[in-house]
Amino acid sequence: MTQIPSLTLNNGISIPQLGFGTFQIEPQDTREAVRAALDTGYRHIDTAQMYGNEKEVGQAVRDSGLPRGEVFVTSKLNNGYHAYGDALAAFARTLDDLDLEYVDLFLVHWPLPAVGDYVETWKAMEEMHRSGRVRAIGVSNFQPSHLERLLRETATVPAVNQIEVHPYLTQDEVRAFGTDHGIATEAWSPIAQGKVLDDPVITAIAERVERSPAQVTLRWHLQRGDIVFPKSVTPARVEENFRLFDFELTPEDVAAITGLNRDERTGPDPDTFNWIPD
Ligand SMILES: NC(=O)c1ccc[n+]([C@@H]2O[C@H](COP(=O)([O-])OP(=O)(O)OC[C@H]3O[C@@H](n4cnc5c(N)ncnc54)[C@H](OP(=O)(O)O)[C@@H]3O)[C@@H](O)[C@H]2O)c1
Repeated sequence: MTQIPSLTLNNGISIPQLGFGTFQIEPQDTREAVRAALDTGYRHIDTAQMYGNEKEVGQAVRDSGLPRGEVFVTSKLNNGYHAYGDALAAFARTLDDLDLEYVDLFLVHWPLPAVGDYVETWKAMEEMHRSGRVRAIGVSNFQPSHLERLLRETATVPAVNQIEVHPYLTQDEVRAFGTDHGIATEAWSPIAQGKVLDDPVITAIAERVERSPAQVTLRWHLQRGDIVFPKSVTPARVEENFRLFDFELTPEDVAAITGLNRDERTGPDPDTFNWIPD
């Protein structure tokens, strides 16, 4: 079976660099999708309270029969639970819903700069970590200014920052901040939900290396050192997105794809997104 490379996070724990994303997978489709991913060889699943499919993700992980230590499971604190006590209670619900003893990584999903106080939220995350029921804590969609505040006012450097990254949004500044402070970058929407797959620079490289545009784009992320978890409910794509380790891009290919940046988001801007679910 293909060996997925792992990265070591700043607290010493290991994370598979390729995983499987579950955003926009309906609960009734989640068990099958995650099972297909685990059967293919993925050993890292990314979910969130917001996705409404934690129960089914946990079920699929338990059904797989794989030792718990062999599957890396990430979830995220939903917007609306940023107050200290609310965050702890929401984390307890995640463990109940997943029906797992622990999660490998738990993230603050959005900073919500105009709503709550993410420093208070982060202190709750530190408490979760102390409880031993999460192996690493991190953030998602944090800009350098938000990270700077955490570094100044709290004792724990986030292990990861999960942000939107793809060839049209290369996120040089946030990624460099992470590198400087030992915060690993996780790239969400790594193929921009399909929007980059017709780009002529990517399709030309794909033709030359005899791989698909999605494989070329995912390989670009891996060679830049980021962690990725493409989502698909299509078994052939789940398989395709896993076959990234039998070819390599040249430094020129990597530079050409990075050169496609146009600071174009597919999702919300973290500086102005302050949405809280009902
Ligand atoms: N932290 C955050 O705020 C945040 C936000 C968004 C996403 N995420 C995480 O990042 C994961 C990935 O991002 P994403 O789901 O937004 O987008 P993505 O992985 O960039 O793209 C998924 C879309 O591309 C299609 N697709 C997948 N593989 C393909 C292939 N080989 N060829 C052609 N099309 C393909 C999928 O279709 P089918 O499913 O129909 O095959 C789906 O429509 C999420 O699932 C979630 O875990 C986190």
